[in-house]
Amino acid sequence: MASNGLSVAVVGATGAVGQEFLRVLSQRKFPIGQLTLLASARSAGKTATFNGRTYTIDELTETSFAGIDLALFSAGGSISKKFAPIAVEAGAMVVDNSSAFRMTDGIPLIVPEVNPQDIGDLALGRKPGIIANPNCSTIIMLVPVTPLHRAATVKRMVISTYQAASGAGAAAMAELEQQTREVLAGQQATCKIFKQQYAFNLFSHNSDMQPNGYNTEEMKMLKETHKMWHESAVRVTATCVRVPVMRAHAESINLTFQKPLTEDDARQILCKAPGVSLIDDRSNNRFPTPLDASDRDDVYVGRIRQDMSQDGNTGLDLFVCGDQIRKGAALNAVQIAELLV
Ligand code: A2P
Repeated sequence: MASNGLSVAVVGATGAVGQEFLRVLSQRKFPIGQLTLLASARSAGKTATFNGRTYTIDELTETSFAGIDLALFSAGGSISKKFAPIAVEAGAMVVDNSSAFRMTDGIPLIVPEVNPQDIGDLALGRKPGIIANPNCSTIIMLVPVTPLHRAATVKRMVISTYQAASGAGAAAMAELEQQTREVLAGQQATCKIFKQQYAFNLFSHNSDMQPNGYNTEEMKMLKETHKMWHESAVRVTATCVRVPVMRAHAESINLTFQKPLTEDDARQILCKAPGVSLIDDRSNNRFPTPLDASDRDDVYVGRIRQDMSQDGNTGLDLFVCGDQIRKGAALNAVQIAELLV
């Protein structure tokens, strides 16, 4: 570690999550002594600002990690697969935002509000390794659902997501903006990132479709929950949908519990839960929206109600919104890094 703080590298520094890493690191006063910004050869020589200083972006290469204490990766799965082990070999702790290592045995998958203990004996400098940041929809779901699970044991979850453009990266956000302008001008929408028109439309999540009829985003919500809760008995079924929203995901979550849990008790638990804020005003029909959650750290929860189709107070419905780039990616990764400092 440099005497004045950690030597930190951001891999994918020009991307939507990479840029948010810089904002979150600055806002949370993360103890950075030296900062290295890495992206593809296309971006080498471009600049980015951090804490009022201008930094030049370097091309990511196999020698990028000499002297780095902590590397925050968000440049896609194939870059992580190749370069995260190289970074660890060079002595850096890696927090990886891609899906490359999430389900790998021995690699912790962490949401600090859910399973911080799973970091185990990994330690900056002494025992470097890879820590995986979960899928954004999984994080936004588990921050509010885990405290309810601790109280009444979730048996089954049924989730429908309303997912923002940011989850597909900066280019997808730009595409939504451009298509919106084009459609309003009466022009044909230009489709590059997504195969179909996104503005004024919605569609099933663009991740790969599996032989079982689920897409990989939906399967991540199941598998990652099992890994982080250390329990494969909980039943999870999800339908993931992209909606033309810029940067915050919404999710409708239906829960079945082993033990009864009243909506009042659920509300009390959620009021005190770390990382959760309530917007649950029935009299004014005011509940969380993606805009409420945008640029905010907390996951917002509302529509907390007993599921009247389930007997004995064993069912609950929630509607949640969380910033995909922030808690769904950059903030969660930086919070993981904070557990190591
Ligand atoms: P670049 O801007 O140079 O392409 P997003 O998820 O918002 O699309 O961002 C992806 C990030 O991953 C960007 O910072 C992008 O850099 C980076 N990236 C893509 N390909 C590579 C690569 N081959 N080497 C390093 N970084 C890459």
